[in-house]
Amino acid sequence: MSAIGLSTDKLEPFVKAYEVKNIAGDIKAAAKLLQDRTGPGSDFLGWLDLPSSTPEKLIDEVKEAASEIRSNAEAFISIGIGGSYLGARAAIEFSKHSFNNQLVPAKRKAPEVYFAGQNISSDYLSDLLDIMEDRQVCLNIISKSGTTTEPAIAFRILKSMMEKRYGKKGAKDRIVVTTDRAKGALKQVADEEGYKSFVIPDDVGGRYSVLTPVGLLPIAVAGIDISEMILGARTFEGISKTNDIEENPACLYAATRKLLYEKGKQIEILSSFHPSLHYVAEWWKQLAGESEGKGGQGIFPASVDLTTDLHSMGQWIQEGQRNIFETFLTVERSNRQLAVPEFEDDGDALNYIAGKTLDYVNEKAYQGTAEAHRDGGVPNMTISLKNRSARTLGELFYFFEYSVALSGYLLGVNPFDQPGVEFYKRNMFRLLGKKI
Ligand code: PA5
Repeated sequence: MSAIGLSTDKLEPFVKAYEVKNIAGDIKAAAKLLQDRTGPGSDFLGWLDLPSSTPEKLIDEVKEAASEIRSNAEAFISIGIGGSYLGARAAIEFSKHSFNNQLVPAKRKAPEVYFAGQNISSDYLSDLLDIMEDRQVCLNIISKSGTTTEPAIAFRILKSMMEKRYGKKGAKDRIVVTTDRAKGALKQVADEEGYKSFVIPDDVGGRYSVLTPVGLLPIAVAGIDISEMILGARTFEGISKTNDIEENPACLYAATRKLLYEKGKQIEILSSFHPSLHYVAEWWKQLAGESEGKGGQGIFPASVDLTTDLHSMGQWIQEGQRNIFETFLTVERSNRQLAVPEFEDDGDALNYIAGKTLDYVNEKAYQGTAEAHRDGGVPNMTISLKNRSARTLGELFYFFEYSVALSGYLLGVNPFDQPGVEFYKRNMFRLLGKKI
């Protein structure tokens, strides 16, 4: 039984039921390219059966490494960018306490988790070094290519800090590398220094790698049950054997996105009503943006946090240019319940909702927003998650991976490469005077 639902009733009148039926054949054809591994980029389809094929031995090794880090570190830094960063951050922020790093250790029961290498900000890294001053630290540097500049710079700086503090041998025992099995500068460094290493499979690209050690190690360090997450992904891997629009919501999602795009809706806004989904949306933006935005095509993936952004971007969404559609991402039940208290004087006139849970109020805010945006000319649909469990998130990861891959094939592009990312790098290297 899936923990993910997709409701499309607010696509009417923009998308008609017969149009969805008519595109079902295209979806099946795109899915066949995926399942038969005959489409563009088919060398990078390792993620397709990753949930069912990840060996228990690897999961145990990741858990063991995580448990060693948990016992040695008060703070853990995950260094990486793009696909080597966003999945872990999404999972940790989705699953854990909203103020996880601020919890007392006895409540957190895991190290504080920080991220580095996702920018080149001197202040960010200096501030992170400040935080590390009075904490025992472990690092995980993650890079598939092993040559990405941002994490490489952060690693140099943090490695220096570690070696100064723990000595070369002590630092070695606190550093884990996740990279390619054979190539790249990071692999070479890992071999030379004797760092514990995990391998990113050759056939899994960065943005599809959250269920490899890229995501699994930091997620396990944070205290999330990675076996549960993989089980969830396995559920959706099973669902994806069916490529029927009626039975596989990933197919229906890909179909409606394509129809909306053809109707001039070039921007998709992923709107969530739970702050824990902020980085899930960031992860999704990379997945969709890098997979589909090529050859002068592709939906621009954007996101907003609601109800926060109803007081900023809400105006634009309601009445701005009508080239957008919206996908709501909702959580049916929060981990913890709070209700609006009753006040005798009712000075703030809130007694009409006294006793109602915040989940109830948030749900009404979502329903009201979905209706208002539809009436304002923004077709919308809703992906609903039953809860904030690791299993549900595993399903969601696979759901998005599968539907985005389908969307890429529907557009006729290779969803597994990202040639455009090289352009800024080439210019930056030239400006930095790198010898090539
Ligand atoms: O999806 C991708 O492949 C990219 O976004 C990469 O994840 C990102 O550029 C980081 O690359 P690497 O892991 O090689 O450092």
